[in-house]
Amino acid sequence: MIPERMIDEVRQSTDIVDVVSDYVRLQPSGHRFKALSPFTQEKTPSFIVSPDKQIYKCFSSGKGGNVFTFIMEMEKVTFPEAVEMLAKRAGIDTGKYRTERAQREEKRESGQFDTLRWAARLFHSTLQSEAGSPALAYLIGNRGLEPATIRRFGLGFAPESWESLLHAAERDGAPIEHLIALGLLTRHPKRNSMYDTFRNRVIFPILTVGGQVAGFGGRTLSTDAETPKYINSPESASFEKSKLLYGMHAAKDEIRRRETAILVEGYMDVIAMHQAGFPNTVASCGTALTRHQAKILKRYTSRVLFLYDGDNAGKKSMLAGIDILLAEGLTPWVVMLPGNEDPDSFIHNRGKEAFVEVLEHERASFQDFQLRCYRDAGWMESPDTASKAVSVMTRSISFIADPVQKELYLDELSKKLDLSRETLRKAMAGGERSGSREPRERRRDEPAPKPPAKRAPLSVTERTFLEALIESTFYGNEVLDFAASHESMFHLEHPAAQAIFSYLVRRFREMGGRDGHIDITSEISSIGMEEASNLAFDILFRLPVNETTRPTLAEIEQHARRCLSHFLVAVKTLVLEPLQKEKQELLARLAATTEKQEEKQLFAQLHDLNNRLKTMEQEVDESIRGILGE
Ligand code: UTP
Ligand code: MN
Repeated sequence: MIPERMIDEVRQSTDIVDVVSDYVRLQPSGHRFKALSPFTQEKTPSFIVSPDKQIYKCFSSGKGGNVFTFIMEMEKVTFPEAVEMLAKRAGIDTGKYRTERAQREEKRESGQFDTLRWAARLFHSTLQSEAGSPALAYLIGNRGLEPATIRRFGLGFAPESWESLLHAAERDGAPIEHLIALGLLTRHPKRNSMYDTFRNRVIFPILTVGGQVAGFGGRTLSTDAETPKYINSPESASFEKSKLLYGMHAAKDEIRRRETAILVEGYMDVIAMHQAGFPNTVASCGTALTRHQAKILKRYTSRVLFLYDGDNAGKKSMLAGIDILLAEGLTPWVVMLPGNEDPDSFIHNRGKEAFVEVLEHERASFQDFQLRCYRDAGWMESPDTASKAVSVMTRSISFIADPVQKELYLDELSKKLDLSRETLRKAMAGGERSGSREPRERRRDEPAPKPPAKRAPLSVTERTFLEALIESTFYGNEVLDFAASHESMFHLEHPAAQAIFSYLVRRFREMGGRDGHIDITSEISSIGMEEASNLAFDILFRLPVNETTRPTLAEIEQHARRCLSHFLVAVKTLVLEPLQKEKQELLARLAATTEKQEEKQLFAQLHDLNNRLKTMEQEVDESIRGILGE
């Protein structure tokens, strides 16, 4: 949690025009500034920045927001990270805002990081020592690594001993409790003792993007079939494999520079690839690709090349990974290695030149790869399995957000399968309806994006309602106050509209009701639902709020009244409309029926409804009169 006061200080010391200018060339346009949208490829500028409201609006992508959401969008960071970045930019010392507890927590964590770094150094120096000679011989002789590569990845060795790490910790004064918490020492279940977890293993330190040691992987040197080939540090708050990519620290700059990330399966694959001249390679650490990992990649590139093992398991993992990447707005490509090779074994067995050749000639779009897999599996030969394959492939396309790309892939598929685009579109819509709308991922620790469902557009009344509600906050709390005390009366059909309404009412209450003050711009950017916050920004942007001159008190009062009456008119329609609709339906049924019994019943219902309508109308009118002081 970032303290409110810190967010405020950052906001006050930051000018959106200044920040946006770091990314695009702004040109003055009236009271505002204009630029080519940094979010889309456009030829005519539709990105507008309002210095007075300190917000922006991109009319081609529909995105809007404040300086924080702008940084979140551009740098692909979270809200707290955006605040930190802007604080740094404004030269604000954020240390003073950190609570004691957070500081203590941070200290403990940095203590653990120190212990991890100590262990990594120990493993690395052990590899270079006498005790490490069999491991070094294995890495250089059997696996073809150069000493520089071993250093670059900080590879190490844990000897075949139960107490090597334990003794070193006692000697260096490294905290034993840390080593237990980090899984480097294991407590003996019966005896009151501890022993080294990693024994007779080559050690692969796993670093965070920032270069801190977060955990270890270890490959056994033993050929015993019972010994697991790899073991990894146990999961913990500071070592979550689903959120780490092996090699990212060494690869990130190259991924940005080469505009592509290469994704492989194993630690050794990453290392062999870097050594062979592909330093833009990373791996997920022995787990299926997660959305979180896709998000990390997205910060550096939008293209990802899958280069998994050439076996069936590798193929399956790539098929599963495609949707994960697409859902995060990345474009996957696939290279299928021949036989049962992985990148490391291929380079080792057939040489770099052959490998480069394969990379250049075997690269397929994700769609061609899917098609090839389904053809190879014989799915395209009978209508029922072919239809299943088509639904998987159209499902993948449905994850693409960019409308042009979506259309192009659909077009491609239609040509390749000789099916009309119309049919494919139907298959795609069918997939959307059947509810399987999330890319499959083994760990589901975060909600998957829901593609926008088909729904009724925002009605004129709903828009008026929101416009008046939002505009009114510039002139006082009256409208919010009314909305809050009559909240249960309205239900907005449009989910984003309802989300905005509920959120503002809740915040109004939290801010102390009538006496509080709502800062509408920052509130809007905090609505959890992206669609809702974009809609709210859209409305805010179009509002005729005077941007340059301060209104007089009389003007404020006049504006407040106008907002309120617009709001109340919308409220009346919103509340009465459903009843009126019900009445129309009843009348229609009454006209159609010929049965006496039913007719009687319908009349009774109509009578009832008329009464409810009248009472409701009176209630609303009364409220309106009361609030307008008439
Ligand atoms: P592989 O079995 O393909 O191993 O596992 P590899 O990378 O080719 O290893 P070498 O070439 O035989 O040395 C791929 C990755 O899956 C994880 C590791 O991250 C490994 O690099 N893995 C594998 C485990 O975590 N545990 C295991 O028991 C096996
Ligand atoms: Mn391998």
